[in-house]
Amino acid sequence: MRIDILTIFPEMFTGVFSESIIKRAIDQGLVEINLYNFRDYSLDPHHKVDDTPYGGGNGMVLMCQPIFDCINAIKTEESYVVMLTPDGVPYQQSFAYELSKKKHLILLCGHYEGFDERIRSLVDFEVSIGDYILTGGELASMVLADSIIRLVPGVIQEESHLQESFNDHLLDYPSYTKPANFRGLEVPEVLISGDHEKIRAYREEQRLKRTKERRPDLLQK
Ligand code: ADE
Repeated sequence: MRIDILTIFPEMFTGVFSESIIKRAIDQGLVEINLYNFRDYSLDPHHKVDDTPYGGGNGMVLMCQPIFDCINAIKTEESYVVMLTPDGVPYQQSFAYELSKKKHLILLCGHYEGFDERIRSLVDFEVSIGDYILTGGELASMVLADSIIRLVPGVIQEESHLQESFNDHLLDYPSYTKPANFRGLEVPEVLISGDHEKIRAYREEQRLKRTKERRPDLLQK
């Protein structure tokens, strides 16, 4: 899979993509990530990418030209363009699964007051990562890239996906590791029993209990 990220702050991404599972996925050639500074595509002598809004109002708006030219330069028949914006569709795990099947993703990060509306004509899908406003789409695109890359076949063990929160609208069960007694805090006995059927039933029950308590909205689905 290839992921191209369009941003005017490419340095923000260096730490995130050079550690842990994402780094390994890149090193193994399972995913290729390219950062494009769309300022480089600006035809303005000062490499301007934004301007004041028509009709007045606060802030600056990202202009069409640099983003149109950047996307048109890298787009192929296989590309799927995602815009990160607080007015997009709320992101969820099912989108991560869908997007992990694409061959080429283009993630478009905004900044300032937003995009010239005409830029939306280039976009296949608009995504928000939550009901709050970030300073730009960079952090949001890192969230998407991370959640998508871990689902690319070969990046992590396939079985790890199966029991994950949100797969079947249930949160995860509680996990414990050694020691069985840490300063008086005990591990539930059933987990040390060796009875696999009992353990499975306990975990299932815990998932339901947790979801009821914390995310009853998931059960409605
Ligand atoms: N850009 C600014 N805020 C955002 C959000 N919540 N989700 C996606 N992109 C954004």
